[in-house]
Amino acid sequence: MLEVRDLHAGYGELAVLHGVDLSVGVGEVVALIGANGAGKTTLLRCVAGLHRPSAGALTFDGAPLAARSAAAIARAGLRLVPSDRRLFPQLTVRENLLLGAHPRRVASADLRRVTALFPRLAERWGQRAGTLSGGEQQMVAVGRALVGRPRLLVLDEPTTGLAPPLAAELYAALASLRTETGITVLVAEQQLPRVLAMAERGIVLERGRVRHRGSSTELADDPAVRRAYLGVG
Ligand SMILES: Nc1ncnc2c1ncn2[C@@H]1O[C@H](COP(=O)(O)OP(=O)(O)OP(=O)(O)O)[C@@H](O)[C@H]1O
Ligand SMILES: [Mg+2]
Repeated sequence: MLEVRDLHAGYGELAVLHGVDLSVGVGEVVALIGANGAGKTTLLRCVAGLHRPSAGALTFDGAPLAARSAAAIARAGLRLVPSDRRLFPQLTVRENLLLGAHPRRVASADLRRVTALFPRLAERWGQRAGTLSGGEQQMVAVGRALVGRPRLLVLDEPTTGLAPPLAAELYAALASLRTETGITVLVAEQQLPRVLAMAERGIVLERGRVRHRGSSTELADDPAVRRAYLGVG
């Protein structure tokens, strides 16, 4: 579904990604693991059409992404949930969700699906997004992407700032979403344990290069990966 080939990207003189390869198949959940500054956000922003790579190829459903705008990529079914969430703080939960389907109108079934997934949003329906807790804001950000009916959901550190129980709740919701809809997911995280339960495969990015790749079990069993990303020897 998504193919990233020999991707190079940076900011001016600063080279950040040095030839990254990654593929995500239909229905898969793939983890992108890396420490601060490894290049995860840069990679995801390239995929979503928000940052232009300096070299390499990106295809979605076999079609090249290079010439497409971020809006066109979103319409084609690829949605990025940015790590800073980008909600409209003065707008309510409901209003934020309604914007997710733009320019389409949101079907009430799509809103029901979001509240089924995140029941606490139903209790916060009329509350301004800026006054929600961090975890609730993340749920709105994911929900807003979902009302656009993406086929590939791209999540940039969705559990940052969340207490472990809330992070677990978010991943449980994503897992049930996947069971129900077969949605494909690419998710960046700094630590393996958060995504391990959900992703079947992953790559580990270090300073813009893929250092490790494999199934979740292979990654979790690799001593070097364990040391760096599980916090255990
Ligand atoms: N807009 C920018 N201008 C200049 N340098 C940038 C910009 N955005 C990111 N960088 C640099 O690119 C490198 C990779 O950043 P990136 O945000 O992709 O890392 P990351 O893996 O997402 O890190 P984190 O886990 O902290 O979010 C960093 O050294 C960062 O300072
Ligand atoms: Mg980042």
